Amino acid sequence: MATVQTTDPEFSAFLEAYPAYTRTRLLDELRSREYARLDSGEHIYLDYTGGSLYAESQLREHHELLRSHVFGNPHSSNPTSLEATRFVDSARQHVLRFFKADPSEYEAIFTQNASGALKLVGESYPFGAGSRFLLTFDNHNSVNGIREFAHARQAQVTYIPLALPDMRVDEAMLDTHLRHIDRSKPNLFAYPAQSNFSAVLHPLDWIERARGLGWDVLLDAAAFATTNELDLSQVKPDFVSLSFYKMFGYPTGIGALIARRSALAKLHRPWFAGGTITVASVQADKYYLADGHQAFEDGTVDYLNIPAVDIGLRHLESIGIPVIHERVRALTGWLLDKLTSMKHSTGVSLVRVYGPVTTEQRGGAVTVNFVDQNGNPIDHRTIEIEAGKDNISLRTGCFCNPGAGETALGISRLELDVCFTQPGHESRLSLDDFRLCIDGKNSGAVRISIGLVSNFQDVQAFLHFARGLLNREFTAIGHAPH
Ligand SMILES: Cc1ncc(COP(=O)(O)O)c(C=O)c1O
Repeated sequence: MATVQTTDPEFSAFLEAYPAYTRTRLLDELRSREYARLDSGEHIYLDYTGGSLYAESQLREHHELLRSHVFGNPHSSNPTSLEATRFVDSARQHVLRFFKADPSEYEAIFTQNASGALKLVGESYPFGAGSRFLLTFDNHNSVNGIREFAHARQAQVTYIPLALPDMRVDEAMLDTHLRHIDRSKPNLFAYPAQSNFSAVLHPLDWIERARGLGWDVLLDAAAFATTNELDLSQVKPDFVSLSFYKMFGYPTGIGALIARRSALAKLHRPWFAGGTITVASVQADKYYLADGHQAFEDGTVDYLNIPAVDIGLRHLESIGIPVIHERVRALTGWLLDKLTSMKHSTGVSLVRVYGPVTTEQRGGAVTVNFVDQNGNPIDHRTIEIEAGKDNISLRTGCFCNPGAGETALGISRLELDVCFTQPGHESRLSLDDFRLCIDGKNSGAVRISIGLVSNFQDVQAFLHFARGLLNREFTAIGHAPH
């Protein structure tokens, strides 16, 4: 792949608009040293919100660790077991240190992913009649899914809508909802620090406001933690959910629930499992849960891969989240500037952006629909196919965030009710059935997300692809190829 010449007028214009990019040059060296496979494979990777990428050194260090140690199941106290426990504990402490969480105040629980962390909270939260589960329309399905536990225990579930065009929450409305609380009952408020749909950064000061009014706060930091500093000495949610592959690419299959010890004490686990108890009896039909993280880690933790979390965190620390943040901000700004200025010869804009069009209080994902020269949306699946031909990896659909998707795409409650009550679809509705039902409307969007080792060429390659869509004919929505 061609390297950018400093004489490239586009690059000069970019640097003029985003001079801070020059302070992130270490990421270019890092990319050529540790992520060479991206450029040798001519990949334009633009799905960092889906998953980040790992450095070769992370693999080397992890494999060397496995090669040079003998690790046994940590549920024992033999030498190999103790060795595994030592590494797992060290990773656990590192997770708390990374997020500046005071260990006397917070616990880190290893889970399979962010969804696993969210499910732990949902299934254990003491919802009951009179208690509330309050959440923003803008949430991943793994947060939305908590409402099923709330419904089952007669709690009231309330969604706070998003205001267009920026897809942020109206603060006055949030306040009204937060004030409507019976403090004698457990009440949970959940929102993402960064939207995985629009990349909006929702204010972290909601945490103290909500807690002050008596809410327990669940902050989904899965998308946020990839390019933003989360400082748990400054903001103190009760629960935080994370997936580590989103932060540093490797390993997959490990996430964390970081929880205040006082909040954990309120949870009631619906079962017990190996590793979570001090004593359990068959004849006496009795068990005693262990303390802290142990009570929440079912069975054997992934003790061979958890040490790779330690390695990944060190990798991020060696770069510095502020450097990543700055680079992502600059590239996102340039992408937005250029994309929003593209017009067909008919004068119609090429894209409709869902979310903020400046870099203010937003992260590095840009979600759009492409529009043809007559103003009709181009099916997001067509865009994914076309982008794939240029070796561009991006994400299309609703990204497991139906509330943001419905808001962005203008799909009303009435239309949804019609689709969800169609005869013959009482218990099953495929995505294609749903698309057919809202025929004539776009059921998804295109997300271009920038991250850890993105560079100017990646963005330019995407803009080149986008320019190629100008003035082209496309099949109308609803008739696109499967
Ligand atoms: C904001 C947000 N929350 C939660 C999740 C769920 O993460 P996982 O699929 O790793 O459980 C995602 C994944 O895309 C996300 O972006």
